[in-house]
Amino acid sequence: MKIDLLGDMKRTDYCGDLREGDAGREVTLLGWVQRRRDLGGLIFVEMRDRQGIVQVVFNSEVDPEVHEKAQSLRSEYVIGVKGKVVLRPKGTANPKLGTGEIEVIATSLKILNLSKTPPFLIEDEEEVAENTRLKYRYLDLRKPRLQQNLILRHRVAREVRNYFDRLGFLEIETPMLTKSTPEGARDFLVPSRLTPGHFYALPQSPQLFKQILMISGFDRYFQIVRCFRDEDLRSDRQPEFTQIDVEMSFVKVEDIQRTMEGLMVHIFRQVLGVELEAPFPSMTYEEAMDRYGVDKPDIRFGMELRDVTEALRHSPFHVFKEAIETKGAIKAINVKGGGVFSRKEVDDLTHFVQNFGAKGLLSAKIVQNEWQSSIRKFITEEERKAIDGILDAGENDLLLFVAGPGGVVNQSLANLRLHLGAKLGLIPEDQYRFVWIVDFPLLEYDEKEGRFVAVHHPFTAPKDEDLEKLREHPELVRAKAYDLVLNGSEIGGGSIRNHLEEVQSLVFEKLGMGEEEARERFGFLLEALEYGTPPHGGIAFGFDRLIMILSHSESIRDVIAFPKTQKGTCLMTEAPSRVDSKQLDELWIKLKEMKA
Ligand code: AMO
Repeated sequence: MKIDLLGDMKRTDYCGDLREGDAGREVTLLGWVQRRRDLGGLIFVEMRDRQGIVQVVFNSEVDPEVHEKAQSLRSEYVIGVKGKVVLRPKGTANPKLGTGEIEVIATSLKILNLSKTPPFLIEDEEEVAENTRLKYRYLDLRKPRLQQNLILRHRVAREVRNYFDRLGFLEIETPMLTKSTPEGARDFLVPSRLTPGHFYALPQSPQLFKQILMISGFDRYFQIVRCFRDEDLRSDRQPEFTQIDVEMSFVKVEDIQRTMEGLMVHIFRQVLGVELEAPFPSMTYEEAMDRYGVDKPDIRFGMELRDVTEALRHSPFHVFKEAIETKGAIKAINVKGGGVFSRKEVDDLTHFVQNFGAKGLLSAKIVQNEWQSSIRKFITEEERKAIDGILDAGENDLLLFVAGPGGVVNQSLANLRLHLGAKLGLIPEDQYRFVWIVDFPLLEYDEKEGRFVAVHHPFTAPKDEDLEKLREHPELVRAKAYDLVLNGSEIGGGSIRNHLEEVQSLVFEKLGMGEEEARERFGFLLEALEYGTPPHGGIAFGFDRLIMILSHSESIRDVIAFPKTQKGTCLMTEAPSRVDSKQLDELWIKLKEMKA
């Protein structure tokens, strides 16, 4: 088939932008064939570009030649159309399309390119295996939902820049080839050709550079920046992702919180037209763990965890006894109206919590003010009443208990709560509930490593009132750290930093880092801290996660143009890939023998 040249086809409008008010206008459209319906003398073509779809009509009575040419159109052909916008005949409007009130009567058609039959339909509703979508990402990205997501992403990035610019922040780039910064993940390494045997690390975040920028006096920094972390992937994690990274000098926790709340208010207003209420509420880490079992609670619904350890302290039931003797905990949730759950449904919940390490799930239904439960016989009347009180139990409620090590109990019930919240439709999808989580512990003991590790990162400052305890009781020290949680997703985290060299050195020491190791890894920071470092702090937001929430996407891959799979591969380019031996030789790298 003959392919036309672009010639005088110059776009006047995007297909998806046309509206009733355009009726009567002559337009030139450029885009793709979504679908063709041939009704003989009339051919309807749904034509698509990044703004949406419009119906183009080829009428043999208007122009027989153009009509005949339209007969050869197939899905995903690239076309140029000139025509007149008209109101659709009465009763034929399509309410599903923004352009549904109008259509374009074609007077000229150019076929600018052909297309093979695509492996899947370019439609949002089409169920396609994700691997196929990612292999043909260029086709997947033609789908309206993904186009809208990336347009939204652009708009949010623009608003971030507008907001910070207005407040006097400077966007400053930091290196991609750098030295390892510990953010708790593995580094991606890049071998150096010029210094054989040496490696750069791709930044897990620009943490140390932004602190250095404060030492250099830039005062207010931000950057929309790519970060790299070699960690196990989940639906909200990617090995390379983007942060809105911020650092400020001469500030306290509240200054950073108010600045970032302002950013959220601005973005939600500009991009979604939603007015947020600020300041956002705050909750201590301890309270979050107690009431929700996680440090990123979804506070859009109740069903909070309640601790019933004390109420069951004297229970003879071996499961409870064991939990108490091993200094564990017993916690429970009340599923209001859950009395209607079948035996099978409750069994499924048991299997669900076992995924999180719980040995089991104990349940009690409230029927006529009494517990219907296999554990009823181990519970005294007094204990039952106490627990009913703690859990606010009422007729037809279902109480679910997990006993065991504190961490397992919290994790199991936190996940069960979210699972049930979704299953029972308790989570209002249209609400945006922010909460700051504060007063995190500075350090936690890592059993596997046999030493303390930083809960955030090693540059986080202890709370002033806890500083004294750092030497003797590091486990009791709380940090000047804060996470921002939105609808159960950690969208950001940051802290006030150690601007005093001696405190920073002491933290390194408590992390089991000898002076020599600290000097080797972070000597440049420790040295810089000695040259007039201002008090400073900052935060980083997960940009992709924010876009996920704003676009109601389930997967982080739906808000990134070219994401990686769960295994960290790009199915389109087939990265990572083998390289030839010459490249390795230049880098002085020899691969170990590998099984094929
Ligand atoms: P943190 O490690 O908490 O802090 O990261 C900040 C935010 O980045 C997002 N995030 C991710 N998003 C997608 N994929 C990932 N693999 C991933 N990892 C993290 C999260 C998280 O809240 N330098 C510090 C910030 C600071 O102290 O200023 C830092 O990077 O939404």
